[in-house]
Amino acid sequence: MKVLVIGGGAREHALCRSLSLDPDVSALYCAPGNAGIAEVAELRPVDALDGDAVAALATELGAGLVVVGPEAPLVAGVADAVRAVGIPVFGPSAEAAQLEGSKAFAKDVMAAAGVPTARSYVCTTPEEVDAALDAFGAPYVVKDDGLAAGKGVVVTEDLAAARAHALGCDRVVIEEYLDGPEVSLFAITDGVTVVPLQPAQDFKRALDGDQGPNTGGMGAYSPLPWADPKLVDEVMELVLQPTVDELRRRGTPFSGLLYAGLAITSRGTRVIEFNARFGDPETQVVLARLRTPLASVLLNAANGTLDTEAPLVWRDDAAVTVVIASHNYPETPRTGDPIEGLADVAAEDAPDAYVLHAGTRREGDAIVSAGGRVLSVTATGSDLAQAREKAYKAVARIRLDGSQHRTDIAAKAAAHS
Ligand code: AMP
Ligand code: GLY
Repeated sequence: MKVLVIGGGAREHALCRSLSLDPDVSALYCAPGNAGIAEVAELRPVDALDGDAVAALATELGAGLVVVGPEAPLVAGVADAVRAVGIPVFGPSAEAAQLEGSKAFAKDVMAAAGVPTARSYVCTTPEEVDAALDAFGAPYVVKDDGLAAGKGVVVTEDLAAARAHALGCDRVVIEEYLDGPEVSLFAITDGVTVVPLQPAQDFKRALDGDQGPNTGGMGAYSPLPWADPKLVDEVMELVLQPTVDELRRRGTPFSGLLYAGLAITSRGTRVIEFNARFGDPETQVVLARLRTPLASVLLNAANGTLDTEAPLVWRDDAAVTVVIASHNYPETPRTGDPIEGLADVAAEDAPDAYVLHAGTRREGDAIVSAGGRVLSVTATGSDLAQAREKAYKAVARIRLDGSQHRTDIAAKAAAHS
């Protein structure tokens, strides 16, 4: 099978890495890709937001499966355009991707499906904003209704800051603060059958100790030694299956990757958000642990035949990923800095540790930074402590001027196991 992956971040590198190891995959393409993905897939230039261009590329390549990685093309209808030319595509329709594209839509679906989530108000005027902030009190949780690459959410004790963020949005969701640790649980679905993956935890704040601004994610690990072993079954029953059933009932079935961002609160598990695609950086650690070859699972989801798939097989290993971000991320990241030490990781640390590229490009013989999150250094080990040690050893070999990374990814969880 020929597979085309759309996107060019560390998530797509992780997907391409797994697909390149799958004997069913005869040719692997990625568009537009990045400098690291070029080592495992053939890159093609494309405007990932242009459905017709992606469909034409898939046709030209004779792709038997297209996997759409990021949310923006999904919300823009790229999966619909590919489906329309008769090529199986892993990724939801534009309508179903509204589960991620609009927080207000997601709240409506959850209410209809009886899925536990934070109580919330959707506000469009300053009066509504003030009433909602007053109703919930601090800490305030203020979310831009539209897509904002993980940066549209402000959680703060500061009323003025909460108000300022809310008034800067056209439509804003203001909601109850959820305490307790966060878990990301992904499920692959064809719109009927739902197959959960293993839970992971990501680190959203820029700095150690969960300080600093929210980011797209600075690291992740899996499994979660502290979590209730019944968590996956519980979330399947309370969240994932009811949500998939509700979207089907509405005539907008969701096929692709359903990502539940959860808070394990003192009052039970609550959904913080849904995403309509694999999460980044959690995908890097979840796929590192998946033994089942990926292509047939994604193809069965695309074709509506997920019920024929054998149960997924997982490694006993733990996995940790540490994101190396550029100078000034997440504000105005500096790009164009050369990256050194990649060959040292390949020579010294492989196969247990490896570098997935997020924002990189080739400039002559050099690989340079090309985005806020630059690399995602991933490692597996017999437990989290070992995976962590290997990941940080590889991180230490990489030189990128002005770069930053968290030093506490999976530290607490590793101490627990
Ligand atoms: P989201 O984009 O909805 O995932 O929000 C980004 C981050 O903001 C989440 O991962 C949480 O850390 C935090 N957050 C979002 N909603 C809430 C909430 N209701 N209570 C507490 N923290 C939240
Ligand atoms: N890990 C956060 C996200 O993918 O949105």
